[in-house]
Amino acid sequence: MRRITIVGAGRVGETTAQILAEKDLCREIALLDVREDVPQGVALDICQTAPFFGFDCSLTGSNDPQIMRGSELLIVTAGLPRKPGMSRSDVLEANVRVIDEVVDQAKRYAPDAMMLLVTNPVETLTYRAFQRSGWPRERVFGQAGILDASRMAAFIAHETGFSSRDITTMVLGGHGDTMVPVSRYCTVNGIPISHFLSPERIKVINERTRKGGAEILALRKNSSAYDAPAAAVAAMVDAIVHNRRRLLPCVAILEGEYGETELAMGVPCVLSDHGLESVVEIDLNATERADFDRSAAAIREDIARLADIA
Ligand SMILES: NC(=O)c1ccc[n+]([C@@H]2O[C@H](COP(=O)([O-])OP(=O)(O)OC[C@H]3O[C@@H](n4cnc5c(N)ncnc54)[C@H](O)[C@@H]3O)[C@@H](O)[C@H]2O)c1
Repeated sequence: MRRITIVGAGRVGETTAQILAEKDLCREIALLDVREDVPQGVALDICQTAPFFGFDCSLTGSNDPQIMRGSELLIVTAGLPRKPGMSRSDVLEANVRVIDEVVDQAKRYAPDAMMLLVTNPVETLTYRAFQRSGWPRERVFGQAGILDASRMAAFIAHETGFSSRDITTMVLGGHGDTMVPVSRYCTVNGIPISHFLSPERIKVINERTRKGGAEILALRKNSSAYDAPAAAVAAMVDAIVHNRRRLLPCVAILEGEYGETELAMGVPCVLSDHGLESVVEIDLNATERADFDRSAAAIREDIARLADIA
């Protein structure tokens, strides 16, 4: 991939840029932010890590949205993060305005790009970006499930003592309190986690996963998480850039899958150089399905609020 623009040079945006550069995932990384001089400073700072990591892509920062020109991928991290005690939905109104502005800039300067949404509440804003851009769902999708699955994997690794390399997890639904960790599809090298963990311990892990972001926010106090979120975004970029056809939980616009339409939520997807190539439908038992439906209803409530935000 030649050029990627990261919109929002805050914590998640900056860390994502650093990881993309270290992994040499494209030739040009552009950082766009409304804060004067900040994206330029971030770009310069990361450039100066090149000798340590041995990358030679270029990094530039700007306050001018024309920096998007020529980008094949836009990663949108612009907007307000929540503060302790707030839910992701509490920042909806402020962030819809930011996303609308970014989508309009994208349509003007990078009309053929893919758009990867990170800003919260990510499902609702992915849906908004899809609607406002008029782009196909293959090119408008979001990150949440990879992060949630990595959190769950970390907790399983802590509990079992096994290497996190061997742990595979699946988390569906919304990126909030209604998220759906599907422990039945979680394994240690193919062996279901129920072989190693009691139902009570799995319940604790599920709950900690659901509250994984809030746990970090409470500890960090003046910042929400950004190291693992940026790594999760980079995993999606890697799958796209290398056309890996990885099966990863992503925020996708549903077009009949799981019986849902006019909704964006976390489901297993295939990521390739076409973007979000397809949604994979997996069997859910009655409890999992009920949890999935509850999560869909919570996202629908936020999406309904969009109509009131002109
Ligand atoms: N989807 C996920 O898994 C996930 C994980 C972590 C954080 N997030 C979300 O990502 C977003 C960013 O978090 P952060 O910690 O980096 O916040 P941050 O405050 O550090 O950075 C946000 C940046 O966006 C910039 N910005 C605001 N409006 C803009 C606009 N119109 N155009 C360009 N830039 C603009 C701000 O100036 C700021 O630099 C938040 O909404 C947060 O909730 C999502």
